Amino acid sequence: MTNQTFDPVELLNDRVRAAIAAAAPDAPADAAALISPSKRAELGDFQSNAAMPLAKRLGMKPRDLAARIVEHFDPTDLCEPVTEADIAGPGFINFRLKRDAISTLLDRLDSPALGLPAPEQPSTIVVDVCGVNLAKQMHVGHLRSSVIGDTLARTFERLGERVVRQNHVGDWGLPIAMVTRKLQEEVDAGRIALDTLTLDELDRLYKLAQHECRGQGKALELVAKYDLGPKIEAELQAMHDEAMEHLTKAKATLVALQAQEPTVYAIWQRIYAVTMGACLKTCGRLHTRITETDSAGESSYAEELTTVVNDLVERGIATESDGALVVRLDSPEDDKIAEPCLIRKGDGGYLYATTDIAAIKRRVQTIGADRVIYTVDARQSLHFRQVFAAARKAGYATKPGAAKPSVLEHAAFGTVLGEDGRPFKTRSGENIKLNDLIDEAIERAGRTVDTKNPGLPADERATIAEAVGIAAIKYADLSSERIKDYVFSFDRMLAFEGNTGPYLLYALVRTRSIFRRAKERGVALDHAGAPIIVAEPAEKALALELLRYPSAVRSVAAALEPMRLCAYIYSLAGAYSSFFDACPVLSTEDPAVRRSRLRLCELTARVLEDGLEVLGLPTVERM
Ligand code: ARG
Repeated sequence: MTNQTFDPVELLNDRVRAAIAAAAPDAPADAAALISPSKRAELGDFQSNAAMPLAKRLGMKPRDLAARIVEHFDPTDLCEPVTEADIAGPGFINFRLKRDAISTLLDRLDSPALGLPAPEQPSTIVVDVCGVNLAKQMHVGHLRSSVIGDTLARTFERLGERVVRQNHVGDWGLPIAMVTRKLQEEVDAGRIALDTLTLDELDRLYKLAQHECRGQGKALELVAKYDLGPKIEAELQAMHDEAMEHLTKAKATLVALQAQEPTVYAIWQRIYAVTMGACLKTCGRLHTRITETDSAGESSYAEELTTVVNDLVERGIATESDGALVVRLDSPEDDKIAEPCLIRKGDGGYLYATTDIAAIKRRVQTIGADRVIYTVDARQSLHFRQVFAAARKAGYATKPGAAKPSVLEHAAFGTVLGEDGRPFKTRSGENIKLNDLIDEAIERAGRTVDTKNPGLPADERATIAEAVGIAAIKYADLSSERIKDYVFSFDRMLAFEGNTGPYLLYALVRTRSIFRRAKERGVALDHAGAPIIVAEPAEKALALELLRYPSAVRSVAAALEPMRLCAYIYSLAGAYSSFFDACPVLSTEDPAVRRSRLRLCELTARVLEDGLEVLGLPTVERM
């Protein structure tokens, strides 16, 4: 048995692949072993479905091929001997694990690292998280970019990699200049005081500024097209002129901002401080490890943009198109993206993409990222394909001295929907504030906790409600396939049964409570290092689940899919619950069996705790 993996599926995989290579030398190198838990437990623990598809490719009879694989299979240490009698149906091969092999594997898993030791050479992983915008409240979309991003970051941290979170705050450009100017006007008129400024006020000014600067070009075109008359045209023209005046002023503010003109810059800094103060507080409420030091907003790249763009022009990577500058990406060496990446507008202004190209350069070449992961809405996927391709074309995605570019990945996520199946908004079509959502989850959790645990002191009930509410929201977000849209439902996510956050917190409490009860009853906790006896089917099922933990965590990192760990923890909780129903622990007469079961309980508690920590769910002692 190798030291690297504990997962019987992976171990069987290796052996069956070796057997295939020996049994059928013509088999393609990538021939899969196709190991899965046995459909019929009476036939074995696991089965391989490899023979059917492979026989077809090799022009053999599947059962004949299965027989040859069995002949070359090496069961040593791991399984009971496999014979032709273990071939079922068209050519499934059944395997039964040796019980002491399971015990040995569990023994190895039961180390401080729980099968996930730190690598000797950690790699550097940058995770683009959160991405709030100045002067705007965090809304439900930021739930996903913060929670999924933080969980992916935690996963890599758990695997011992060096992780750098980057909060690419939208804090620069014309929309920010618009609100900066608006705020300055309000301050000058004495309507708003800078030192008591709130995010709610800013949010309102942002919308107002957007509205003021919106031109009437489209409407004027329609008036001309349908000849709607001079009166309406004059009215619209006046509105349009006014908007253009606002816009001109905002552009002047942008120039002043870029030059860090003291009064304008001071206003902007206040907007920044108010927004980020609120944002980081919300990130804290969500139990994410997103802090001030992770902020690297668009403004932090402002001074690099001209250098980057000049470099791209000098090296012929950026070319002119209708007065603007673009990077073409349609050739086969690039990513065959039809739409060129716009990096400078005709008026000289830089764009969202320009900043992201500069950000890749910094992340790879200064921070040293081997892998950069962007947890951003799926609707930005063309943007990321473009900036990834442009950065690769420019060589910015390659570390100094490295032979090939670092890995750039868009961990795209779907939209949060309301129960009506449309994007989750308030009745009046406004975005739902993330803080309101958190408040409501905790409040609803509180009502349940109060009913279920009336005996607990009020402050403990409040702590539990907070953990349950946050765990519910986060788990609901993490447990569906990342790219899919999901329907936000308080009732569903807060349920104490089923695949929910609260259920898993409860499962952990249950596994821990056995140790509390042992103490109360004076049962000796002398199970450390005791041999694990895998006798009952429920013990075996629990043991096999436990052994899957390291590969479950690794698979989150490989696929950037937190749902895999969610599914794993949920199924571990289920296996524990069946074990707990079928196998008495404290009341067992035989001390060897009691110790073995206590050890299984403890290992389950540790794996659950570790897994919930990787997911970033807050846990509780009682509930
Ligand atoms: N602020 C952006 C938005 O609201 C998200 C930033 C995502 N990260 C990035 N590197 N572009 O859409």
